[in-house]
Amino acid sequence: MKGPAARAAQLRRLIERANSAYYVLDKPEMSDAEYDRLFRELQELEAQDPELRTPDSPTQRVGAEPATAFKKHRHLVPMLSLANAFNEAELAEWEDRNARLVPEVRTAGYTLEVKIDGAAVSLTYEKGLFVVGATRGNGLVGEDVTANLRTVIDVPLRLTGKGWPKLMEVRGEVYFSKSRFAQLNREREQAGEPMFANPRNAAAGSLRQLDPKITRSRGLQIFCFHIEAPGQKLPAATQHELLEQLTAWGFPVEQHHTLVPDLPHADTEITRLEKLLPTLDYGADGVVVKVNPITLHAELGTVGNREPRWAIARKFAPEVQITKLKEIRINVGRTGALNPYAVLEPVEIGGVTVTTATLHNFELIKAKDIREGDLVEVTRAGEVIPQVLGPVRKKGMRRARPYQPPERCPVCKSKVEHPQDEVMVYCPNVSCPGRVFESIVHFAAVMDIRGLGPERVKALLDAKLIENVADLYDPKRLNVMRLLALEGFAEKSAQQLLDAIDGSKRQPLSTLLFALGIRHVGAQGAKLLARHFGNMKALAKARAEEISQIRGIGPAIAEAVAGFFVDPQNQKLVKRLDELGLNMDEPITAESKGPLAGQTYVVTGTLPSLSRAKAAELIEAAGGHVADSVSKKTTALVVGADAGSKLEKAKALGIPVIDEAELLRRARAKP
Ligand code: IVH
Repeated sequence: MKGPAARAAQLRRLIERANSAYYVLDKPEMSDAEYDRLFRELQELEAQDPELRTPDSPTQRVGAEPATAFKKHRHLVPMLSLANAFNEAELAEWEDRNARLVPEVRTAGYTLEVKIDGAAVSLTYEKGLFVVGATRGNGLVGEDVTANLRTVIDVPLRLTGKGWPKLMEVRGEVYFSKSRFAQLNREREQAGEPMFANPRNAAAGSLRQLDPKITRSRGLQIFCFHIEAPGQKLPAATQHELLEQLTAWGFPVEQHHTLVPDLPHADTEITRLEKLLPTLDYGADGVVVKVNPITLHAELGTVGNREPRWAIARKFAPEVQITKLKEIRINVGRTGALNPYAVLEPVEIGGVTVTTATLHNFELIKAKDIREGDLVEVTRAGEVIPQVLGPVRKKGMRRARPYQPPERCPVCKSKVEHPQDEVMVYCPNVSCPGRVFESIVHFAAVMDIRGLGPERVKALLDAKLIENVADLYDPKRLNVMRLLALEGFAEKSAQQLLDAIDGSKRQPLSTLLFALGIRHVGAQGAKLLARHFGNMKALAKARAEEISQIRGIGPAIAEAVAGFFVDPQNQKLVKRLDELGLNMDEPITAESKGPLAGQTYVVTGTLPSLSRAKAAELIEAAGGHVADSVSKKTTALVVGADAGSKLEKAKALGIPVIDEAELLRRARAKP
């Protein structure tokens, strides 16, 4: 590394990439601890030499630019981030800095709150009604995800109690309970969909779904902790009262908050909370310490547009273990992406034995200078996939030579490609055995072919019985006789596999589309495409512009789909699958008969514009059912003013509660 300027430039790039991976792609490529470390290093370099603080430095903003799929929403008051303190000394420094501006802070008291690890949102209420919900975006402008937030069961649509400001933004964090997150990932694994790395990313991703139905099915929750009501009086003088007020208005507030008189008491309490956090059923990545009197918040103000001075996040180090990195290996994914990973000397982290860990991409390996044979720090902090943080260096330690990323695909030896603006390096060869293997494994999982796991796929490929997914269905290539020649097959198991393959021919078009592994086409996208076009022929003829007209399908998916079908090799594959008897149609299911088909609604209270009879008519016209009482089968309860016991029952059963506007939106939605 040549001097601080070069290092700062490198850090800016790494942090921007990480931001984009985190905020835009919902695919983090480094742990929080690592991110914080890089961020601080950059902040320190910039503090030493302000010339290095470029206007586009990630230290000068809060998050990523909002993605384009949603309407933009300008926050009344910017959504700030929080500074971090990693130990008692840093917390004391924070107080010292504040006391220089406002001496009373030392004795004004602090509230301590659990720092929920999810996605930040802002909920706008007008006269007590939920009108807009938005993500943080870049802090000033976020994405309007109102329709999605309405599906979050504990977001109050109408406030209870009284005394709320006419117009206010309530800030909170949407999150997944640990149990729901685990269940969600199990479902995804079974469906062959990529699993979420951690609950935070799952929350951010679920919030930014184009189809609110998907958001609803995910089961997000929310905790609220802050109010912005510019120019209006808040019925709370302290943060502690504000939390009580939020609760009284019907907002879910995390219950473990406490009030302490000063910093020494805060330290004791934080130690207690640190032990409590792992026992909670939601991810918490620290404790937020807030100056209690709200009058002092304005006096303290903010640092740039980034963080308030009156609050700070006290973070705890995640469990990190040191072990030996034996070897750097590469897995070629079905898109051709070369994924480097570390083979480790087994090490126990958080009660799990870890033997491999992701290295994310070659750029990160280079930036951190990770080499084979190094002792490395490995963490699993809340994440599912263990990560290598970086090497541990000791003076006089002999090291291997710096790691050289391959110029050729480790499987097929094609020259690798490195698209501009992408961190990933790709094998461009569509017939690369590595890619073919991964794509057949994916195909078998999605098509639900029992007994065709990775080992069997490998055996079939090695024996040259198959070269692509169509070969699975070709009796000339795959039959009992040929399978019997392989190790591990008996008459019965061979027949079972062939039956399973045969059974998969009847899968609907949507499943087949997802199984084909077209770039950007997930289970949900495939469903939208299949329902819209009905059969493969119609889809194959469609142009990108037409495809992108479908609600929920963005331009990237549309381009990828159209691109897939113009490729002669793909055309041949699809034609062969058709000839071999695979189903190419999407059956007309209840769901495709109307936007509310297969759903049951109960209406209660007085709706603002629809009479009860009109509401029922509307629901039925959209294919839904109307029931008189709330039960487990109820899709949602539609509530108007003065709702009574039905609302209680819905809440008790965990049935979603929606208002008239949401009902109208759902009934008009394209299926
Ligand atoms: S206070 C101006 N309190 O952490 C108000 N934030 O890293 C600043 N967070 O953007 C936020 N739990 O999304 C606050 N009890 C809590 C929180 C909390 C989670 C999130 C929030 C914030 C981020 C900062």
